[in-house]
Amino acid sequence: MKKFATLFTIAAAATVLVSCGDNGASKKLTVGFSQIGAESDWRKASTTSIQEEAAKRDINLIFSDAQQKQENQIKAIDSFIAQGVDVISFSPVVSSGFEDILKKAKAAGIPVILFDRTVDVSEDGLYQCYIGSDFVEEGRRAANWIVENVGEEAGIAELVGTVGSAPATDRAKGFREVLEKHPGLKIVKSQSGDFTRSQGKEVMEQFLKSPEKDQIKVLFAHNDDMALGAIQAIEEAGKKPGKDIIIISIDGVKEMFKAILAGKANCTVECNPMIGGQLFDIAQKMMNKEEFPARVPSQEGVFDSKSITQEVVDGRKY
Ligand code: AHR
Repeated sequence: MKKFATLFTIAAAATVLVSCGDNGASKKLTVGFSQIGAESDWRKASTTSIQEEAAKRDINLIFSDAQQKQENQIKAIDSFIAQGVDVISFSPVVSSGFEDILKKAKAAGIPVILFDRTVDVSEDGLYQCYIGSDFVEEGRRAANWIVENVGEEAGIAELVGTVGSAPATDRAKGFREVLEKHPGLKIVKSQSGDFTRSQGKEVMEQFLKSPEKDQIKVLFAHNDDMALGAIQAIEEAGKKPGKDIIIISIDGVKEMFKAILAGKANCTVECNPMIGGQLFDIAQKMMNKEEFPARVPSQEGVFDSKSITQEVVDGRKY
């Protein structure tokens, strides 16, 4: 029993304390995190996961909200470097344009963990780990659900995420990869709704007034928030979402589960935002100079009316 208690104490201490200073005292792990903003329920859940895990582990978290702007993310990372944090992490709003600031972090010797989204860089070693989903696979899963549940013939409208972001690029790629093998499934409209509910609604309104409106049998939205906005637009146009237009999106937030249970939407491919714990596990390993994986994938499922019950909705945390 005593042995277990001792082991636990050592393990618990190792989760929050980093290397000793000159006087032998341990210091708290400091992580600088730049979040994109609060564009979706998914993003809000991601922020909660990061902040709750940091508090639980007594980690000094310097959290910065970029309000959807890349320039704010670059400024935040620059300030994390100036403050000499132990680890930098961020969810990049778009994939390109981070190379110079990542080179600066590397020159300062501060390790970087990409969280949720990846970046495009031309040299290795500018970040040490990526924790998050396989967005290409999410796009494939959405398309496969359509093939299995709608059939081989349908016009599809696509609500794209933030232009230039990894999830928008990769979900579109995975979706088209599957569709190429099913020529009767055609994308008849495609436009960005920037991952927000308000823009999802606006763009869907335009789709429903376009010359292609009668061809739209399926809506594929790159996230649940845009799909939830589109549901409103479809209802306001006098149509039945989930029936007149089949709706599939990505994320798996509680509001979408409710829409599926109510028959107003049909499927959501899960993208897991609750990965704050994995972030600090890796940050801690970096500080302890332990081995860590370069890629930490998220575990995710696909939900539709066959799997969503009231109990599932009630149990959903975000
Ligand atoms: O990067 C993950 C995506 O960003 C989620 O699908 C979306 O809801 C969020 O805004």
